[in-house]
Amino acid sequence: MPGRIPQNFIDDLLNRVDIVDIIDSDLPLKKTGRDYQALCPFHSEKTPSFTVSQEKQFYHCFGCGAHGSALGFLMNHRGLSFVEAIEEAARTVGLEVPHEDGVHAPKIDYSPLYEMLERAQNFFVEQLKTHNDRNRAIDYLKSRGLSGGIAKRFGIGYAPDSWDGLMSALGTDEQAIQHLMQAGLIIENDQQRRYDRFRDRITFPIHDRRGRVVAFGGRVIEKGEPKYLNSPETPVFQKRRELYGLYQVKGSNEDISRILVVEGYMDVVALAQFGVTNAVASLGTATTTAQLETLFKVAPEVIFCYDGDGAGRRAAWRALDTALPLIQEGRQAGFIFIPEGDDPDSFVREHGPDVFTSREPIKPLSEFLIDELAKKTNLSSIDGRARFLDLAEPMVKKIPRGSFRQLLAQRIAEIVDLDPHALAPLAGGNRPHTRLARPTKRRGHPSMVEQALKRLLYNPKLANLVVDYKAISGLTDDHAALLAEVLELISRHPNLTTGALVEHYRNSSHYAILEQQLETPLELDDEANAIEFTQAIESLLRKTKPGAFERAKAEMRRRADEVD
Ligand code: UTP
Ligand code: MN
Repeated sequence: MPGRIPQNFIDDLLNRVDIVDIIDSDLPLKKTGRDYQALCPFHSEKTPSFTVSQEKQFYHCFGCGAHGSALGFLMNHRGLSFVEAIEEAARTVGLEVPHEDGVHAPKIDYSPLYEMLERAQNFFVEQLKTHNDRNRAIDYLKSRGLSGGIAKRFGIGYAPDSWDGLMSALGTDEQAIQHLMQAGLIIENDQQRRYDRFRDRITFPIHDRRGRVVAFGGRVIEKGEPKYLNSPETPVFQKRRELYGLYQVKGSNEDISRILVVEGYMDVVALAQFGVTNAVASLGTATTTAQLETLFKVAPEVIFCYDGDGAGRRAAWRALDTALPLIQEGRQAGFIFIPEGDDPDSFVREHGPDVFTSREPIKPLSEFLIDELAKKTNLSSIDGRARFLDLAEPMVKKIPRGSFRQLLAQRIAEIVDLDPHALAPLAGGNRPHTRLARPTKRRGHPSMVEQALKRLLYNPKLANLVVDYKAISGLTDDHAALLAEVLELISRHPNLTTGALVEHYRNSSHYAILEQQLETPLELDDEANAIEFTQAIESLLRKTKPGAFERAKAEMRRRADEVD
């Protein structure tokens, strides 16, 4: 058992970590007004209702009610224990976790994996320069038209034709071998035999957004199966989140206005060699929501490049489906279709980069959507137009309300020859100010103490307004003593956030009652919240000695005025 972690360390830690950084490294957040938003990872949804408040250091999903602090997120999303969540949060801010009896909890420290991956990368690059078989690899790369400079820029290397090339170079002891296995570089079979994953392959390092090598793709030289072998999922590599080439894109373009999404490693590399330095590849699968979110944070326009044959069109349709819920003001998506039989690699080598750099070949997402639906329906008949509308409706409804959705609905009205007003519900009106329906769990009317607690938890600064919390602790109302205690705690630590406050009580018998107050988000703005809070406290103080109330009330009003 690890020793207890001192509460003051946890308080301090929550003061230092930023919930936005922590959540953002799992799911990319997008700033909307004062808060950040994402698609909720705890339930499936098409438009984001998962909201993170930096100020309160608290997250809340308006769709499913999930909520909590940075530590709560690490526990709920990554499945960590409380102690592990603290270790992980501490790691992000470079703090060492103290344990009261000096025993340390096991750390989740991935740095040995990153280190191994970096060393493996150096090893592969070195092999391309020095290994006896290097000419086979170099000749192949030359035959594909790769320049030495571009191979260097993308860190392309060579994994030698041996069961233990990498293992004997880096697996110097059992611990090193364990790290190599965790990093996906060494495989152990049923007979406990261990061997290199990548053998006799050209290696393509995959970097995360911070530029750390997290995985590899390995291509056979000439022919063989599988053509590409990729690292498995590891603690530092989830292929649905990473994008090949994104790190290089960020390194070569200061202000990136457009990103191209292509299918293969070779496409990214060849395009870069021809000066098209804004291409990335999703890793052998359809582009995921997480990847698209990442891309839209880097550039406002995302263009998918597929070939124009059946498979390419199907891939484009899937990409369209993933992109629709993410199209908001200021974001655009579109397609470039490459002639059948070519891919971006072969096309750029034959025809140069123009197709990938000019605006003209881009088919906007809306146009592609309409064209594909039109192909499936006969727009010259009323039945066909009705069918078109049936197919279009669920697609349009995936788009967040806003001008893009309105314009598309108008365009669809024209196509099916309807009065645009008839499609008003499809157009969705302007961006709504109301939230999604809230969870309707009700537990009877909250008491005055509960109301005050809830408002205080969501806005701890309100504690400044209260003069006489000792009087409150004297009340016999349920949880009055807790309310007084929280008021007192905040008066000692005026910078406590919502997240830090809940965590302060996590191991206390009061945790459940505080947690209950946070189940539904607060619907009021700070000012209205302050008024309601003041009224609740006043009505509680009224129950105490009458004279005390009048004095306290006058003082509260005075402080409230100062705040204004
Ligand atoms: P492609 O077969 O289009 O590969 O697969 P490519 O990049 O054009 O490769 P070359 O030009 O033949 O060398 C596209 C992507 O799908 C993944 C890889 O990420 C590849 O770049 N893939 C493909 C695999 O992961 N495994 C495979 O066996 C094949
Ligand atoms: Mn290719």
